[in-house]
Amino acid sequence: MKTIAVEPGAGKPTILEKPVPEPRAGEALVRTLRVGVDGTDHEVISGGHGGIPDGDDHLVLGHEAVGIVEDPNGTGLEAGEIVVPTVRRPPNGTNHYFESGYPDMAPEGEYVERGIVGGHGFMAKYFTSPAEYLVPIPEELAPLGFLVEPISISEKALEHAYASRSAFDWRPESAMVLGNGSLGLVTVAMLLETRDFERLYCLGRRDRPDPTIDIIEKLGATYVDSRETPVSKVPEAHEGMDFIYEATGYAPHAFETIEALAPNGVGALLGVPSSWQFDIDGGALHREFVLHNKALVGSVNSHRGHFEAAIDTLSQLPEWFTDDLVTGVYDLDAFEAAFDDDDTTIKTAVQFESI
Ligand code: NAP
Ligand code: BGC
Ligand code: ZN
Repeated sequence: MKTIAVEPGAGKPTILEKPVPEPRAGEALVRTLRVGVDGTDHEVISGGHGGIPDGDDHLVLGHEAVGIVEDPNGTGLEAGEIVVPTVRRPPNGTNHYFESGYPDMAPEGEYVERGIVGGHGFMAKYFTSPAEYLVPIPEELAPLGFLVEPISISEKALEHAYASRSAFDWRPESAMVLGNGSLGLVTVAMLLETRDFERLYCLGRRDRPDPTIDIIEKLGATYVDSRETPVSKVPEAHEGMDFIYEATGYAPHAFETIEALAPNGVGALLGVPSSWQFDIDGGALHREFVLHNKALVGSVNSHRGHFEAAIDTLSQLPEWFTDDLVTGVYDLDAFEAAFDDDDTTIKTAVQFESI
């Protein structure tokens, strides 16, 4: 079967032939429909993040998949059911984080991530998975099922942000999303369409006309150009933002977030930057944290419950939004186009079987 893989140092994905996998006890065989591409895939391809499985010389890409159960193999799933796989798996047998249902909280060494680090991904005609990591979705969501994983990332971040304020009656009204990539845009849509935020800003570094700015404004948010207006100088930042969601991977934003938060505000950091040294006023930031009851949460990955919440969120997003967000779905023979990284590309997917 055909897979899309990357070899260390190659800098670009390639097609590799591999045998169709055999499901083991407890695993189902899934026929892949579509697999999305995000900023992490680009970081994996460039060698900035992730790694190949032990003893292998390549990594099959893809962690945002939707497929159709080909062989339930006695797992309780049904043939023909549409499923979305979660990303993390235990590396050597199970461990506490997987047993308790929180693989997303496992520290490094206690997980592999399929398509990212230590485990082959879903960009293959077929894949196998233990049934407990396959989340059924309604058939009508199949064409957009590859958006469930990225939405689940924000479900987790929001859950942790709200949990950090659960000791009092927190009522956030204003929010700012840093980053107008696919994760940032999906989060702007979630916050405006499925939560009670009244004012929302989204920060980018693009000139108009730009399709991401069009989406931001059509959703009812305000676009901010970080080249003209730094995070802490955004209108309202003098009062502060109740919630800030960082999805740029631009490390200074993590610290500018502290200053830009309102008293009692929460920042969620999602970006995965490389090592980067710069000056900060640690004393001022420490003081800000303490005197204004601020919180920052780092958030990575997501668990099955976040996938289930994401399915619900996906079904609430307006059709025009997903139409504008998904700029291309490419068949295997044109798969390279799914990895284009220009300003007209927002969210893409590779299609293994037409829907
Ligand atoms: P992406 O498509 O690369 O998006 C990043 C966006 O941030 C781009 O649109 C980029 O603008 C913008 N940006 C970067 N630096 C900026 C700056 N200084 N000012 C304004 N805008 C800036 O990636 P993505 O898929 O949306 O993901 C976003 C980040 O989250 C990445 O770092 C990714 O690794 C991370 N991520 C984390 C998780 C998690 O579980 N924690 C999950 C998914 C993704 P341009 O396009 O104009 O360059
Ligand atoms: C994936 C997460 C993963 C994270 C870090 C993200 O792009 O969506 O599932 O945990 O990268 O590798
Ligand atoms: Zn991702």
